[in-house]
Amino acid sequence: MKILISGDCNPQPQNRESPLTMTQYNTLRQELKNAQSSWLITGIAGFIGSNLLETLLKLDQKVVGLDNFSTGHKHNLDEVKDLVTQNQWENFTLIQGDIRDIDTCHQACNGVQYVLHQAALGSVPRSIEDPALTNANNISGFLNMLIAARDANVKRFVYAASSSTYGDHPDLPKQEPNIGKPLSPYAVTKLVNELYADVFARTYNFNTIGLRYFNIFGQRQDPEGAYAAVVPKWFSALLNGEDSFINGDGETSRDFCFIDNCVQANLLAATVQSEEAVNQVYNVAFGERTTLNKLHELINNRVEQSGRKKGNSQLTYRDFRPGDVRHSLADISKAEKLLGYAPQYSIEQGLDKAAEWYTASLI
Ligand SMILES: NC(=O)c1ccc[n+]([C@@H]2O[C@H](COP(=O)([O-])OP(=O)(O)OC[C@H]3O[C@@H](n4cnc5c(N)ncnc54)[C@H](O)[C@@H]3O)[C@@H](O)[C@H]2O)c1
Repeated sequence: MKILISGDCNPQPQNRESPLTMTQYNTLRQELKNAQSSWLITGIAGFIGSNLLETLLKLDQKVVGLDNFSTGHKHNLDEVKDLVTQNQWENFTLIQGDIRDIDTCHQACNGVQYVLHQAALGSVPRSIEDPALTNANNISGFLNMLIAARDANVKRFVYAASSSTYGDHPDLPKQEPNIGKPLSPYAVTKLVNELYADVFARTYNFNTIGLRYFNIFGQRQDPEGAYAAVVPKWFSALLNGEDSFINGDGETSRDFCFIDNCVQANLLAATVQSEEAVNQVYNVAFGERTTLNKLHELINNRVEQSGRKKGNSQLTYRDFRPGDVRHSLADISKAEKLLGYAPQYSIEQGLDKAAEWYTASLI
């Protein structure tokens, strides 16, 4: 790995082969293995970025990664290093820098064919506490990346959109055209990303695809900090003998989606050829709804089975959180039809994999 420090930066081994056959994704992986392309992943030291890195390096791709380490960690990159060969690791260049700095974005996009833009400040509560910071990272930073990718003439700009864009729209399952009003500053930023991407397609003939992620979980998702997501938080609590908390009555539901399904969607979106498929947004989920009560039971069972459960951690209910939607479930038929997306892992299969990782990593 080469390391470059850029601009205005603001530092703050497993085999997961699919149990199913996925023709389109398998074919794509073979094609990538046969011919090296160059990719930029922003947010590379984060949860989703580091998983994209792992998959692309294992496919012998050349990867530039950009991160300011505000919520990402060097240990995520160290773990990927241990999972790939020395030759594959040498295909990776890290730029330590910030997407709020346009020169850094230009440097990162230089000579790249595909951009997978993941860098952003996640978390609804964080955005409610500091909307200006979320806006600067998620909108100004996003616009910088769009401009730099357009100027570098990249083939495709795939970006992390969000299910939060459905806001207060009541329909279930969520279908891409039917969005409501955003319920948080974070949701506003993700909606604005889609608007900018659409305008860049119309105005500059630029190719983008937005992936509306629905509660992605899996290895390397951070259990630490006030804004941690529920799956890593509960693994951590149960493994460390701490109490778990549910905001509300536990009947709130989400479409939890294992990380490898999300990686698949990114690679398919970056390389899909059909014109009909480009300049679109897609739901990325498994297509099944699980309540928080059920999720806690599934995680608790796995931690108990691992024999690593510590103490007698209690499950406590507290108030609903502002900005949270009550139910979320994706219709994934658009991604299935136009991208050939075929999620490999159900929530249970994904939690099995996540449990292996958290029990090995959090002890
Ligand atoms: N995890 C989910 O369930 C989920 C759901 C919907 C959308 N998303 C989106 O997916 C993307 C990745 O999320 P994640 O879960 O991997 O989060 P993460 O916090 O683990 O990763 C984000 C990464 O971006 C980096 N980053 C943040 N601001 C930056 C900046 N200004 N310049 C350079 N790097 C910066 C962080 O240091 C971090 O490494 C985000 O855009 C997020 O909004 C995630």
